[in-house]
Amino acid sequence: MANVLITGSNRGIGLELARAYAAAGDRVFACCRSPDGAESLKALASSSGGKVTVHAVDVGDGASIATLGKAVGDTPIDILINNAGVLGGHPQTLDSIDFDAWMDALKVMTIGPFRVVQTLLSNLKAASGAKIMTVTSQLAASTWPFGTTYAYSSAKAGVNKVMQTLALDLKGDGIAVSMIHPGWVKTDMGGPGADITPEESAAGIKSVIAGLSMADTGKFYKWNGDIHPW
Ligand SMILES: NC(=O)c1ccc[n+]([C@@H]2O[C@H](COP(=O)([O-])OP(=O)(O)OC[C@H]3O[C@@H](n4cnc5c(N)ncnc54)[C@H](OP(=O)(O)O)[C@@H]3O)[C@@H](O)[C@H]2O)c1
Repeated sequence: MANVLITGSNRGIGLELARAYAAAGDRVFACCRSPDGAESLKALASSSGGKVTVHAVDVGDGASIATLGKAVGDTPIDILINNAGVLGGHPQTLDSIDFDAWMDALKVMTIGPFRVVQTLLSNLKAASGAKIMTVTSQLAASTWPFGTTYAYSSAKAGVNKVMQTLALDLKGDGIAVSMIHPGWVKTDMGGPGADITPEESAAGIKSVIAGLSMADTGKFYKWNGDIHPW
């Protein structure tokens, strides 16, 4: 049984990840911005016999992450999944861009995951062979050029670099750090015309995490296990 902490787990890919780890019998720290409105997640928690607990965290807010750290206490965390994400405003074109939304995207998707790792570092070190997986996007990759999406793409490219740097810094602690493109997924973000379901994406991400070793630290994956060139 692993202790798994997932951000943004009230809907979309994060909710399916919480369901998948709960179904496997793992202990899930399911984090979301607003537990009050997280009905599906609360239903999962109440049917889990205490294996799933719901925790409030806004990953764009340092004080909120610090509060999460206190709630987790000294529990070892085997798997941390930085999943929370935002689009960063719409449209994101050269002539029409919302700079506040861009800043929020950087806070939530680039700086937030770093802060979560920093806050939970002692918990990750307390586990044996902890793994950190950050859900990024193919839009992070220089090999996948795509017009517009300035805010989203820069935030995801930034977090890839943050995670690559963490992979180097945490090598000595035996903590594997990787990034993953979850596919184009039928969620609120991906829309109904996307390629795969949240269940398929979550199953793929879970399988990639299961196979991670220190030999893989710093690698960027696709949800199907392929390496993503970036
Ligand atoms: N769907 C795709 O095709 C696709 C493709 C590439 C990458 N991704 C990435 O996959 C991850 C999951 O996306 P999704 O498709 O499941 O999107 P989604 O359905 O829109 O869910 C986004 C999740 O992130 C949470 N979140 C947003 N801002 C937050 C904050 N400040 N603090 C904590 N949680 C916050 C949301 O919570 P609230 O309900 O409170 O807003 C929600 O739980 C994201 O990182 C996204 O960028 C998705």
